[in-house]
Amino acid sequence: MGLRRNKRQAEQHTQQAGQPGQAGQQEYAGHAGYLGHLGHAGQPGQPAHPAHPEAAHDAAPAVELRSVRRQYGRGSATVHALRGIDLTLPRGSFTAVMGPSGSGKSTFLQCAAGLDLPTEGSVRLGGTEITGMNENQLTELRRSRLGFVFQAFNLLPSLTVEQNVLLPMRLAGTRGRTAAQAQARAADLLARVGLEGKGGRRPAELSGGQQQRVAIARALVTRPDVVFADEPTGALDTTTATEVLGLLRSAVDTLGATVVMVTHDPAAAAHADQVLFLADGLICDRLPRSPATAIAARMTALTAPSKPAAPRYAGAAA
Ligand SMILES: Nc1ncnc2c1ncn2[C@@H]1O[C@H](COP(=O)(O)OP(=O)(O)OP(=O)(O)O)[C@@H](O)[C@H]1O
Ligand SMILES: [Mg+2]
Repeated sequence: MGLRRNKRQAEQHTQQAGQPGQAGQQEYAGHAGYLGHLGHAGQPGQPAHPAHPEAAHDAAPAVELRSVRRQYGRGSATVHALRGIDLTLPRGSFTAVMGPSGSGKSTFLQCAAGLDLPTEGSVRLGGTEITGMNENQLTELRRSRLGFVFQAFNLLPSLTVEQNVLLPMRLAGTRGRTAAQAQARAADLLARVGLEGKGGRRPAELSGGQQQRVAIARALVTRPDVVFADEPTGALDTTTATEVLGLLRSAVDTLGATVVMVTHDPAAAAHADQVLFLADGLICDRLPRSPATAIAARMTALTAPSKPAAPRYAGAAA
């Protein structure tokens, strides 16, 4: 019950991404069993967006930050929350952002998602510069081109599951879609997140994990340039969290979605293609896709700066 592609999409993807059966195909199969049936044909850790049927055709990176600074307050009370972030995230990539409390993670996510404007620097989403936009333009951009998944799910309780998933499409306008096409899209996404037939329920009739799956379906419904996730598993138990992370992973692998996720949890970050570590408003370290233990060790080194960093063994791979 993962993010299932239909057969034609799967065939297209296989033809374009090529090389089914490569080493690494099994690597994603462990995510809560959601992906075992997908026949993933891409290379783990590499953005495969040109092959993805749902990826936007624009060749611009999903996210580009240049010299982004964000400060709060003035004079001696100035807080430098971001002190010069440079970052390019390709489409079809899954990035985790970690760092100690106060390191700037939320500020980074808000600036990258157009929820806040940097004091200096440039933010481009899908090639569009957002730093000069007014509030109406930013609202329109967020509705039509971004998806959000929050720790608290943020579903509207009075709407059904299907209506919640359809909401971003309604807010973004019909864009040539008929109501039937929109409903079909919602039904497809609900099936992909394992909630087939639950479109008529209210959020309160679902478990926390199911509600977060609805939120993921909702975040994907407009085929956004980027899905921003802020502690998406913070309110879930470990098993349910693993399922939800498997869905985000699957959205990247099978739909070509781009996910940027802030998390405190090394086990969550282990699902990402890369982990960025923030400290004191700067990206101070990066890891490619790594096991939770390696990510946790890097975090421990970050939060204990007074101690010398653990030596890295040149011969560790031997
Ligand atoms: N609205 C604000 N006004 C003043 N200072 C702020 C504001 N928002 C954040 N800050 C400061 O900016 C810095 C970065 O905050 P931010 O919320 O981005 O950290 P974080 O990494 O998300 O922390 P946490 O893990 O605790 O959520 C902190 O020093 C914080 O106190
Ligand atoms: Mg925060």
